Amino acid sequence: MNNLSKKILVCVGTRPNLIKITQLEKVFQKYNYFDYILLHTGQHYDNKMNDIFFEELGIKKPDFQFTLKGGSQIQVIAEIMQKFENVCNEIKPDLVIVPGDVNSSFACAFVANRIGIPVAHIESGLRSFDYSMPEEINRILIDQISSLHFITEPSGIQNLKNEGFSEKTIKYVGNSMIDSLVGYNQLIDKSPVLSEQNLKKNEYVLFTFHRPVNVDNATNLSKLINLMKKVSEMKKVVFPIHPRTLKNIVAFGLDGAFKSIENIVKLDPQGYIDFLNLIKNSSFVLTDSGGVQEETTFLQIPCLTVRPNTERPITIEKGTNKLMPFEEEEIISEINIILNGNFKKGEIPNLWDGQTSSRILKEIDAFFKGQR
Ligand code: UD1
Ligand code: UDP
Repeated sequence: MNNLSKKILVCVGTRPNLIKITQLEKVFQKYNYFDYILLHTGQHYDNKMNDIFFEELGIKKPDFQFTLKGGSQIQVIAEIMQKFENVCNEIKPDLVIVPGDVNSSFACAFVANRIGIPVAHIESGLRSFDYSMPEEINRILIDQISSLHFITEPSGIQNLKNEGFSEKTIKYVGNSMIDSLVGYNQLIDKSPVLSEQNLKKNEYVLFTFHRPVNVDNATNLSKLINLMKKVSEMKKVVFPIHPRTLKNIVAFGLDGAFKSIENIVKLDPQGYIDFLNLIKNSSFVLTDSGGVQEETTFLQIPCLTVRPNTERPITIEKGTNKLMPFEEEEIISEINIILNGNFKKGEIPNLWDGQTSSRILKEIDAFFKGQR
């Protein structure tokens, strides 16, 4: 690397972060003055929440990998911050990139800002306006301290303008998560997961739930299990279980109720390729995930999101997503609309085309050229 080279430190820590950066690495190779450095905070650490994505998606081994002691959210954030400060002081990056809204992204962005390193935020501008969600606070804080705001959907532009950001930093580049879907499309189609699990196209509904509001208290988790049981009487349920949800089923003594559901395939968290194949072939999806709302919109699969709000309104306005109150009767009635073929068909949002990572690096290139 010569002295014009720029060290770009990409910080990931959780499953959805990884899906947002898979194609960046390929584009980095086109810019020989960029030194692409990958750091993993260790927030997600199970093989099936982490390692599997490196193995199957060919993401490079992180140049820096933290192992955290764990504990409360504060302990995790504080430990990431301390460790990240040391890394920044050691390698002195020219830019720190953080994707999404998880605690790792906030912790790294905050440290970078405090020691004077510019931050670029992938998936900037999204707002649920629900300040009880840690992710909403993370989004707002990360955006406040970012020099480049990479936007996935028009609401993001408007939200940032409303918050007084200069148009110069707002870059509507599209959705880098969809880059992964486009990039791995053929592999996704070849996944053997359906035959391995003895499933047929359209024969099942895919569930994913991990939001604290739905799974961190016994009342709502019990409601969720009852809903799953009811839906399983209409259609087979396929449920890859997030570790937070699994822990709480056990902690709240709900395993008996959970085991009593008969028409269900319970799975460990799935690798990306198998999981996307499961979405693609499902009749519909019931979820509280952020990324899954976008993936179903791109794949034009009906998606019922059991949340009072979403930071991704394009998936409702244009896509196949619909917000549902946590009310069994209303959800069942919407499911009947889907099963009768009367649910909206949806359109793919602008710039969700597989080229977002290229646009991001073009903007970063222009950012550095503007500094010379
Ligand atoms: C985090 C993000 C959330 C994101 C989700 C993606 C924050 C505030 N939350 O939520 O926005 O939607 O990741 O999946 O950053 N655990 C394991 N193994 C793992 C990871 C987690 O057992 O590999 C368990 C641990 O008990 C941990 C709990 O799950 O305490 C919650 O993990 P954490 O990373 O705090 O939050 P998520 O619910 O995963
Ligand atoms: N995902 C996966 N396996 C699973 C569940 C999800 O690969 O068993 C992928 C999913 O396709 C999406 C990302 O993980 O790309 C979303 O992660 P998650 O729902 O955990 O987080 P959120 O998007 O809600 O922050």
